[in-house]
Amino acid sequence: MARLDGKVALITGGARGIGEAHARAFAAEGAQVVIGDLLDDRGSALAAELGAVFVRMDVTSSADWAAAVDATVSAHGKLNVLVNNAGILRFRTVADMAEEELRRVLDVNLIGPWLGMKAVIEPMRRAGGGSIINTSSVEGYAAAAGLSAYAASKFGVRGITKAAARELGAHGIRVNSLHPGGVATELALDPSNADATGIDPEAFFKAIPLGRWGLPQDVAGAAVYLASDESAYCTGTEVLVDGGLLSGPGY
Ligand SMILES: NC(=O)c1ccc[n+]([C@@H]2O[C@H](COP(=O)([O-])OP(=O)(O)OC[C@H]3O[C@@H](n4cnc5c(N)ncnc54)[C@H](O)[C@@H]3O)[C@@H](O)[C@H]2O)c1
Repeated sequence: MARLDGKVALITGGARGIGEAHARAFAAEGAQVVIGDLLDDRGSALAAELGAVFVRMDVTSSADWAAAVDATVSAHGKLNVLVNNAGILRFRTVADMAEEELRRVLDVNLIGPWLGMKAVIEPMRRAGGGSIINTSSVEGYAAAAGLSAYAASKFGVRGITKAAARELGAHGIRVNSLHPGGVATELALDPSNADATGIDPEAFFKAIPLGRWGLPQDVAGAAVYLASDESAYCTGTEVLVDGGLLSGPGY
């Protein structure tokens, strides 16, 4: 029996990067997968390849959340797992960041997952429980210069995860946070980020104790664990997948 047999999972930001790896791993472990993303072409192509469903959605919109949850339940009769994975990164110092950029990062990375948790409570209660996986970051523990908005959003994700875990445990709904770091994706390698800060991505990755970039599939294993019944007694906890980045100072 596969580890996610019988589970129905909605994965936001599932069209590429870490979310795509989650979608592939979940499908391989027997889950029915629904991919929610803004990227129509990549999301639809991946869904077709995996036998999944693609829903175009913006995680900042409550109406889009309602439609995505409806599409999931219509397609598969229930919803057991939500992976709040969609996120954006903007490297900008406090001095240089515009107020709208700060609000946008918080809207996508923090309010988006909060809206998602709210939208799945009823279907998960009907299903007899569920697992919500909120994507934080190494930046949910420690902040880099240029990442005030991003770090605020990812520290915030840890907070909403623990509050929701306490609220929803009685309904059998588990809520945990996943903390990737140093994973080679289009988000992490966007050259405009290095341009904005002068940070050398190569120097950054040399600081990783395991001595290599993380791959999206390195993170997917932790998501499968949190989605599956193997983690049945874990709620309000944090899983760090960072190649050792946060194990100590980089000198
Ligand atoms: N790559 C890393 O090293 C790293 C480290 C820590 C945390 N993370 C987190 O992991 C998650 C995935 O990151 P990634 O590196 O795969 O990035 P990515 O940019 O490759 O993928 C992000 C996906 O989210 C989607 N998305 C963005 N805004 C959206 C919105 N408003 N509504 C719906 N979908 C939206 C994008 O279209 C994209 O498909 C993010 O939450 C990110 O903050 C990544």
